[in-house]
Order: sequence, then C-alpha cells, then structure tokens
Amino acid sequence: MRRMLIAGNWKMNGLSAEGLKLAETLAQRLQQATDYGDPPPPACDLLICPPFTLLWPLRDAIAGSGIALGGQDCHPAESGAHTGDVAAAMLSDVGCSHVVLGHSERRADHDEDDALVRAKAEAALAAGLTPIVCVGETEAQRDAGETLAVIARQVQGSVPAQALAGAERGLVVAYEPVWAIGTGRTATPEQVQEVHAALRGQLAELLGSARAEAIRLLYGGSVKPGNAADLLALDDVDGALVGGASLKAEDFWEIAAACPA
Ligand code: 13P
Repeated sequence: MRRMLIAGNWKMNGLSAEGLKLAETLAQRLQQATDYGDPPPPACDLLICPPFTLLWPLRDAIAGSGIALGGQDCHPAESGAHTGDVAAAMLSDVGCSHVVLGHSERRADHDEDDALVRAKAEAALAAGLTPIVCVGETEAQRDAGETLAVIARQVQGSVPAQALAGAERGLVVAYEPVWAIGTGRTATPEQVQEVHAALRGQLAELLGSARAEAIRLLYGGSVKPGNAADLLALDDVDGALVGGASLKAEDFWEIAAACPA
C-alpha cells in the first residue's frame, strides 16, 4: 500500500513572516490532530517546498511536526562555480528530504530538457534526497492527441532508472498537465487516471513492477479543496502536488484531509 503524499509547491512566493506563519499553522494543526484525534490527522504524508530562502527558518518551524521539507530545484553538480545555483547536498544539509525537479515552469523558463532533469535527479539521489520528477503535456500536445507519447518521452528521458537501482531513496513522479497549472482548469478524473495508469505501466517497464508499484504518482494542476477528493480517489493517484492552494493553510489542510483513509 502506498501512503498518500500531499506536497505544497510554494513556487516563488513567501517572505519570511508569512512563510513562517503558514508553516507554523500547518505544524500546529497536525500536532493538534495527532494529539486529540478530532479531526483525525490526514491519511497522508505532508511536504512543503518553499523558496530556498525559507528552507532554513522553516526547518526549525516544522521540526518534530512530521511535515517534511523539500527544495524546488537543484543543480546536477556536487558543488563548484555555478553562481546562483543550489546543490542537492545543500538541500539535504538544511533538512530537506525531497526536491521537485523538471517542473514545467523550469522546463519553460530555464530551457530544462529531459537529460538535465535526469542529471539533477541523479544528483538528488546521490545526496540522499527523493526526487519528485514532473512531467506533463501542453494544451497543444493534448489537442493533437500526443499526451501519452509526450509523457512517455519525458519519463524515458528524465527518470534516473540506473541511479535508482542502488539508491536508498525512492522516486516520486508528478503528472502536471501544463494547461492545468495555475489556470483553475483541472484535468478530469478520467484524464488523470488514463495518464497515471500509463505512467505506472511505463515505470514498470523501466524499473520493474515491484519498484513501479512503490512509486507515488502525484497529480498537480489547480488542485483545490473542491476537487481534491475526486482526484485522490483514483486508483493510480497517490497524492497531489499543490501550487496556489498550498499558500493557504486552510486549503492545503482540506486537500490533505480529502485523502481516503
Ligand atoms: P497550481 O496548483 O497553482 O495550479 O500549481 C500546480 C503546480 O504547478 C504545482 O507544482
């Protein structure tokens, strides 16, 4: 059984005061739910991925709460002359367990291709992090009937299959249709299940079925309290990667609470 994962990708949002408040509110809610059971704690793992600048203060704010911390990117190299970049070991050092890689915003804004995403994922695994590799088609690709082919190509190119074989950490894959990100348009449950089932099959081919069964597949793209339950009930959906709604403690909590027990 895969335990669900609800991950908040704060993107480039959050100054220290509001970021701390958001993280502290979530940590308190989880603590209360765990201590008193009314309402019960959500049936999922919680992860927040703030901007790099907030990782250090948030590490203390959520220490011991059970909420995990993740980065939003890393460089493929271990260290060196890469001004402005952050190495996977630095994320690990500051308390991260996960790192989001190959997000469509990075693929678009920074010309990241599959080979680079895979190199970053290999670096993340080597630093003891779990990579969350993002894939997803554009609207034009969906309209042209290319969705599954695009996803297959991205998985083939970005998943660090060889590095995973010896890694202590696993992998998370997030399906984020580009046209659903930040648009308020969510993929339908049928569209999501179709892609997730195909993803699972492809991961089984690439990594073997036992490993593929253990990989959590997240859906991302305008996940909100109002649509979370329908999406999280799907067979091959093991959680959500939440953007905008993760910036409001109440909404993020409600999404987590929608995980089937
Ligand atoms: P939104 O939830 O704001 O659509 O963003 C999704 C996303 O890109 C998460 O990584």
